[in-house]
Amino acid sequence: MQTLSLTGANGVSEIYIENDLLSHAGKAIGDVFSPSRVHIVTDSTVAPLYLSQLTQQFDLPVSSTVIPAGEEHKRLSTVEGIYHDLLAAGMTRKDLIIALGGGVVGDITGFAAATFLRGVSLCQIPTTLLAQVDSSVGGKTGVDLDEGKNLVGAFYQPRLVLIDPEVIQTLPDATFADGMAEVVKYGYIANPAILDMVSQPDYKTHIGEVIYECVKIKRDVVAIDEHDTGLRMILNFGHTIGHAAEKLGNYTELTHGQAVAIGMVAAMRLAALRGDTDLSAPLIALLQQLGLPTELTHDREAIFHALLSDKKKFGSTVNFILVREPGRAEITPIESETLHEYILKL
Ligand code: NAD
Ligand code: GLY
Repeated sequence: MQTLSLTGANGVSEIYIENDLLSHAGKAIGDVFSPSRVHIVTDSTVAPLYLSQLTQQFDLPVSSTVIPAGEEHKRLSTVEGIYHDLLAAGMTRKDLIIALGGGVVGDITGFAAATFLRGVSLCQIPTTLLAQVDSSVGGKTGVDLDEGKNLVGAFYQPRLVLIDPEVIQTLPDATFADGMAEVVKYGYIANPAILDMVSQPDYKTHIGEVIYECVKIKRDVVAIDEHDTGLRMILNFGHTIGHAAEKLGNYTELTHGQAVAIGMVAAMRLAALRGDTDLSAPLIALLQQLGLPTELTHDREAIFHALLSDKKKFGSTVNFILVREPGRAEITPIESETLHEYILKL
């Protein structure tokens, strides 16, 4: 088993990565927590695959909430339903909430755990590649509003993250590819060796190593800037235009991973418009090889207006993450007016 630990403002988050970890998750959880009861939140796709395997490992009362799968359910109304289930199950502040699922389940459950009774212990068991390499680690939780993604949320570290690379074997190819968009992001912002690893035809047989390298980067970044006021913004490479495209497609046209892929290419082209070396060609080739889209198809004026409502806008500037060379990213504030000109040329 590989382990990483992340020290945040409110304590330590332990991250375990091991094949077949789900089969003995109950033991790992019992070594860290002492709850009287456990509540598992999962979604309608993951529940039939893994919920009973997890539930039967506990010798204490276990309840669950199964939410409908999909980004469109990452809403306050879903969180409210979870609160009612937690109360009906008799959950107290000494008990444990487990998120079993992809990034949507993880973000919603994390927010419910952060706010129910002002905070209940949380364990993340991510079941998509995207959630394993990114969303289950680092404590960002939240929900979407009509106005945009992740606009309501909290920083709330899971005490434990259990990553079992074998559970992603049941992912559809397109959902696996979504996670690869975040993997490519880590390669470009911090460690080009990851790009070499995933360029190999047999990279899926080494996916555990790829996951470990990505989580290590996320751990290191969050340890320095847990609350996203500086360095952590580099994790948003590709996300600024990506979030705008996701929003314009009503969160159904593009998945998060697809939007990030398109957003990374757009950010590379934007850097070239500012006079930097154009690094978009090898990025496009790799994303295509991984089955991800690369071209922004939305109206550029609409993209500009959508990204102005993004959380990463400060006053009249937008913080863009630009990659100077593979492995080196910089936070670059760009004036709205100048950005408008660039976006129209993309
Ligand atoms: P998702 O949670 O919607 O999962 C994608 C699909 O895969 C769903 O239909 C789900 O039911 C299914 N699924 C999950 N595990 C499965 C398995 N093992 N086998 C078969 N099907 C499975 O989406 P996602 O891509 O995991 O996450 C995207 C979300 O994560 C977005 O809301 C995004 O904003 C968020 N996110 C959060 C952070 C963070 O730091 N908190 C970081 C990146 C992304
Ligand atoms: N996925 C971006 C972050 O965790 O900051």
